[in-house]
Amino acid sequence: RTVYVNGEYLPETEATVSIFDRGFLMADGVYEVTSVLDGKLIDFDGHLARLERSLTELDMDKPDQFDELLEIHRELVRLNGIEEGMIYLQVTRGAPGDRDFAFPDAETTRPTLVLFTQNKPGLADSPAAKTGIKVIAIDDIRWGRRDIKTVQLLYPSMGKMMAKKAGCDDAWMVEDGFVTEGTSNNAYIVKGGRIITRQLSNDILHGITRAAVLRFAREAQMEVEERPFTIEEAQEADEAFVTSASTFVFPVIEVDGVTLGDGTPGPVARRLREIYLDESR
Ligand code: PDD
Repeated sequence: RTVYVNGEYLPETEATVSIFDRGFLMADGVYEVTSVLDGKLIDFDGHLARLERSLTELDMDKPDQFDELLEIHRELVRLNGIEEGMIYLQVTRGAPGDRDFAFPDAETTRPTLVLFTQNKPGLADSPAAKTGIKVIAIDDIRWGRRDIKTVQLLYPSMGKMMAKKAGCDDAWMVEDGFVTEGTSNNAYIVKGGRIITRQLSNDILHGITRAAVLRFAREAQMEVEERPFTIEEAQEADEAFVTSASTFVFPVIEVDGVTLGDGTPGPVARRLREIYLDESR
């Protein structure tokens, strides 16, 4: 596989980053995941805009190659022959010589930019889209700036493992009694035809797929309500689903041990997945 590091396309075995990189030492970095379907990038502009916002919020310089990111994404897709899959992009604050809590001087360190592809044949046709997924509820103990897409992903990883241990697929995180989001996706329920999802704030990541799906839902005259909901409300919902760049729309068929409806993907989730895939490819 060919990967990209700071201006160079390299075989993955030859790509290196300093052990002093603040991404490695302090999780001082941000990332984006963009999906690829039919060899084309999905929602690239949205991911680029959010990357810029994440950098600004953390007072981090743009990488030197920021203006070439579209070309770099396309070139990596081409070099690796990706038809269906993902591109991962990461920017960290770079590698000053020493470990220090204070940010390094902009003159002494440039951000580190890394991109790689993940080949996922069958991404659009994923089995989970047909069967639906099961989620458990866990406490949301992450920090208070979840709107910034940082590489600080230890708790979401632990949440995923707790879900697996419970025989489920993912976890919905709960704060002050209300669901924030999934470990790596935004969360929705459907009741009486109305789509309910938490409103945007610093409590959740502003999903690029979320924005597109809500736009398509409104265009299709579906009712959307942006407000928090509880696990109990989700367990009494007609259906539920999650959205992200890597799942598009996955129906949720079980919430913390309670089966929704007849335990099969609901019509709203199925329809939104279809519309999203049709409209964005
Ligand atoms: N995760 N919420 C969280 C906490 C996420 O990590 C993600 C994305 C989303 C959905 O955002 P988007 O629709 O822009 O992908 C919501 C990516 C896919 C990941 O970490 O792999």
